[in-house]
Amino acid sequence: MKITKLGLKNYRNCTDVSLDFETQKTLIIGKNAQGKTNILESIYFLSDLKSPRTSTVSDLIKFGENKFEINAAVEKNNTDIELDFAYDTDKKRELKINGVKSSPRDFKQVIKTVLFCTKDLLLLRGAPQDRRDWLDRAISQIYPAYDERLSKYDKIRIQKNNLLKNEIIDETLLDIYNEQLVITGANIIFLRKKFLKEIEKIAARKHLIISSAEEFSLNYTCPEDEIENISAYLKQELIERRREEFARRQSCVGPHRDDIEFKINGIDAVKFASQGQQRTLVLALKLSELEIIKEKTGYSPILLLDDVLAELDETRQNYLLKSIETGIQTIITSVDTILFEAEFLKDVKIYNINNGAVEKGEII
Ligand SMILES: Nc1ncnc2c1ncn2[C@@H]1O[C@H](COP(=O)(O)OP(=O)(O)O)[C@@H](O)[C@H]1O
Ligand SMILES: [Mg+2]
Repeated sequence: MKITKLGLKNYRNCTDVSLDFETQKTLIIGKNAQGKTNILESIYFLSDLKSPRTSTVSDLIKFGENKFEINAAVEKNNTDIELDFAYDTDKKRELKINGVKSSPRDFKQVIKTVLFCTKDLLLLRGAPQDRRDWLDRAISQIYPAYDERLSKYDKIRIQKNNLLKNEIIDETLLDIYNEQLVITGANIIFLRKKFLKEIEKIAARKHLIISSAEEFSLNYTCPEDEIENISAYLKQELIERRREEFARRQSCVGPHRDDIEFKINGIDAVKFASQGQQRTLVLALKLSELEIIKEKTGYSPILLLDDVLAELDETRQNYLLKSIETGIQTIITSVDTILFEAEFLKDVKIYNINNGAVEKGEII
């Protein structure tokens, strides 16, 4: 899978941008706040119909304009596919595959991306919500129905929260909500654990290579793996913490509260690992995500590297750049080309971006 062309109209600060991705590797070079991340964000958007930076799609419309458009040409299975997305200030969105109106689910299936940005380097230190988001995004690239399950779960959880806010709580209704939460929640946890088992295996191998001797493992809040056992675990937790939920007037049990614990040599990486160790771990996780998507869907995802190279030391940079050599389409943003070795730059296409306008660039 490959994106061959990208066109943006009134997307953030990009008034009218068109890019060709003829080579496997593309570098987008520009100073701060010129629009580098905006370009990667727009490609990511085509794969997820969500921005990693905002949950408000209208934020993506250029200030003062009333509509943005993203168009892309994709090569998949030796076939050319055309993607068109538009969104206006009336919240009307248009999705088209080859000029024909498409469902969000089909649209999201066309391209897969793995985005690696500086914020990811804080994955271990961030809030549990950041780790859940990472996990959920990665899983929804593999299982298209996962997103729908998440929204179903959220809907019931919000209803339950509203119920818990009442002066007198209808416990019969609460039990009905809890039953539904157990069913959808167990499903979500089941898929999360399945994904984590796989990523743990691959990431442990990669981690061992980058860090030479350190072992990596991870734990998820719910210790069970099978759907029946997860359901039983959730039911038990809901009984045990019923009073707490009453007191706090909110839903305290379930996948929306779970977290992942990362360990290096058996020790909690969040509390005790150095910044370098944490970065190695995140790098291993990201590259594993890429491998799993490739394995599960049969397509190499597009790797989007947003400003991360400068944040990594030489060993990690080399490991990352070496991993890219294996035929994965990669789009990289950076302030300059200094960090890249001549060998790497040989077959790279370079663009310069300045105030949202893009032009062909050179090695500097
Ligand atoms: N909706 C928008 N309309 C116009 N400009 C925007 C919009 N959203 C963000 N920007 C501008 O985009 C620039 C940041 O772009 P970004 O891609 O994050 O830069 P960088 O090159 O540092 O990655 C800022 O100048 C910001 O004001
Ligand atoms: Mg940026």
